Amino acid sequence: MFTTLSPAAAPLPYDLFEAIGTLKKDLNAVILAHYYQDPDIQDVADYIGDSLGLSRQAADTNADVIVFAGVHFMAETAKILNPNKQVLLPDLDAGCSLADSCPPNAFAAFKAAHPDHLVISYINCTAAIKAMSDIICTSSNAVSIVQQLPADQKIIFAPDQNLGRYVMQQTGRDMVLWQGSCMVHETFSEKKLVQLQINHPKAEIIAHPECEAVVLRHANFIGSTTALLKYAQQSNQSEFIVVTEPGIIHQMQKQAPGKVFIPAPPTAACACNECPHMRLNTLEKLYLAMKTRQPEITLDPELQRQALQPIQRMLEMSA
Ligand code: 13P
Ligand code: SF4
Repeated sequence: MFTTLSPAAAPLPYDLFEAIGTLKKDLNAVILAHYYQDPDIQDVADYIGDSLGLSRQAADTNADVIVFAGVHFMAETAKILNPNKQVLLPDLDAGCSLADSCPPNAFAAFKAAHPDHLVISYINCTAAIKAMSDIICTSSNAVSIVQQLPADQKIIFAPDQNLGRYVMQQTGRDMVLWQGSCMVHETFSEKKLVQLQINHPKAEIIAHPECEAVVLRHANFIGSTTALLKYAQQSNQSEFIVVTEPGIIHQMQKQAPGKVFIPAPPTAACACNECPHMRLNTLEKLYLAMKTRQPEITLDPELQRQALQPIQRMLEMSA
């Protein structure tokens, strides 16, 4: 099972940024980070991106060791693409509520009930679900991948029902949706969002397609994390209400200085718009993972082989 290193288990150097830089050279390692990571982790990473960008980097890297600052399914994808490289995840407990919402046995039965359907799975799923899929997609290529399929092709879309509904709306296609969702993107309050816009009438609402339809209908722009970042940079507007995990605001502030980014509020009076899984990774754990070369992602070779094909299909279809 998952084991987590305690930061207290080893003495920590005073300057973690410098120590991580030294380890990176010693190990010939690359640090890949998602936008939902803590700002410190983003600042030490070699590449920061959305799920598609991170998969492409993982597929192309010459490094011997991949340090994945993200969640388990992302590091697992990097391992599937690089069976002979070591892939480290700072905290192996960094899971994903969306991936957890699609258990392999239940999905196998769902798939069996729709025998003539092609299975498109969002990358936010386990290797076992990937192995049962025909094509993987991310939030930045889901619409385009569905559009590339013949109009009469029957499709199962899993596991995110919100992204699935958004893709159906954009493509005009009917799809059978697995009823999974992300705990972070489902937490945004439509009422609070509307009130926030009344208080900031010039602000544009930019939202991730994992949000519910009642929230997305208020958005001026919908896209993956990378697409939201690019939109914020290029838009003539200077104020944005950001309806996704607020970790991305660090890059928005760096790449669009002078603009104002307001995190959309969750329903509850807490910080539950932060992903509790992503935020398990810390700079200390990242350092310790590189120092001890664990926790490491390991996978059954046959599962790895089966899960690789739909990921490769995605990369080919989004060249
Ligand atoms: P993207 O990285 O594709 O924007 O997806 C966001 C997300 O929820 C990752 O877990
Ligand atoms: Fe999973 Fe949602 Fe966290 Fe992304 S933000 S890792 S989809 S729980």
